[in-house]
Amino acid sequence: MAKSPSFSCSACGNTTTKWAGRCETCGEWNTISEDAGISKGPAKSLGGKRGSQVVLTDLSTQEAPPPRTQSGITELDRVLGGGLVPASAILVGGDPGIGKSTLLLQAAAQFARSGLKTIYVSGEEASAQVRMRAQRLGLADAPVKLAAETNLRDILTTLEAEKPQLAIIDSIQTMWADNVDSAPGSVSQVRAAAHELTTFAKRKGISVVLVGHVTKEGQIAGPRVVEHMVDTVLYFEGERGHQFRILRAVKNRFGPADEIGVFEMTGQGLSEVLNPSALFLSERGTPSPGSVVFAGVEGTRPVLVEFQALVSPSPHSQARRTVVGWDGGRLAMILAVLEARCGIPFAGLDVYLNVAGGLKVSEPAADLAVAAALLSAREDAALPAETVVFGEISLSGALRPATQTENRLKEAQKLGFTAAITPRGGKSVEASGLSLTTMGDLTGFVGEIFGAG
Ligand code: TYD
Ligand code: MG
Repeated sequence: MAKSPSFSCSACGNTTTKWAGRCETCGEWNTISEDAGISKGPAKSLGGKRGSQVVLTDLSTQEAPPPRTQSGITELDRVLGGGLVPASAILVGGDPGIGKSTLLLQAAAQFARSGLKTIYVSGEEASAQVRMRAQRLGLADAPVKLAAETNLRDILTTLEAEKPQLAIIDSIQTMWADNVDSAPGSVSQVRAAAHELTTFAKRKGISVVLVGHVTKEGQIAGPRVVEHMVDTVLYFEGERGHQFRILRAVKNRFGPADEIGVFEMTGQGLSEVLNPSALFLSERGTPSPGSVVFAGVEGTRPVLVEFQALVSPSPHSQARRTVVGWDGGRLAMILAVLEARCGIPFAGLDVYLNVAGGLKVSEPAADLAVAAALLSAREDAALPAETVVFGEISLSGALRPATQTENRLKEAQKLGFTAAITPRGGKSVEASGLSLTTMGDLTGFVGEIFGAG
């Protein structure tokens, strides 16, 4: 039913149902106009008529697992959750100069060799530069298509025409969308470019890898805004002075998060490290005070690393607390627990803590290894040789069992360790063949290992 029109006078506000040249109420001329009327919702309701019906399934519907492509770089494939999923979007973040371009060029070459049509778009280096690097890495024969381009419109047009299965965009900060009014690298450009690329890739069935620079503050370059748009977020990390590089999955819709791949930067690019524990411990000499081997787990894989602590009288009025590879807040907590629950003060002492090899450990299970390293350094007494340590410390000083105890112990045994110090109450693991010392709290640990209370 058509609703009756309504008119109003702009001079006096009188409303009528029909137009007139002169307002009957105030007598003004040419002041009456038709009102838009108050909306009663969208004229054409969306309600259940015009759409097509969506097919519903139930949760038990069988779905074939996505056909993944392996690159043959085992460490990369595992971090991806078992290979590259078609039409997936991946963000690879990391500090400038850490080796992202090197890794992705090697990955591009391997994926191309295993049959994926691959395009590598560099916004930072000229094609000649990328080719030169490829030659140096022995990848020049791989069927990868190269482009040096930053204009997003041109890149999308190229992808549309070439129809690759994998496109690598290095880096997202250099991409420039001409419909966004700000400089390349700004958050709005990065967000727009990432959105365009990921939605385009999903629509066309292209897997896309976006490279993103992270600054130490994790900001300016802005890959954080991209994280929620992609299926998988990998961070490439490592200390610049070390040759080890760790690729870590922090988000993965197609596999376990927290999985790591370990690489070594060599003159011929990145080479895989298939047994990281052996590598992280390779520089370990005879047991010395302050050094403790932690049996950790990264993702699905056990990794042994060495924690090193140095404790010395502080010449400053405020003692130093320096941490590399672990959380500074967590260190403060352990120091506080040692002081409050075990009566071992660290006031007036400088404390340095380092994870050997450049690995960043974030597991709470490292608490006990940290406490052991600190005590060992403070007392100048080495821990028993060939011993691994793990366990979480609560604020009360109680020790909590860690996850995957068996996995950790097996790895320790495999690498020739003969003893382990762990919290009491974990799953019973007799089969490991290590001599186990279990403790209920930190005071017990201090008494047993260092003969002090
Ligand atoms: P790059 O991949 O360009 O870093 P990103 O893309 O993350 O900025 O790597 C740069 C560093 O890697 C550079 O300092 C040199 C070093 N490198 C090697 O040591 N060996 C090699 O074979 C290559 C290609 C690079
Ligand atoms: Mg680069």
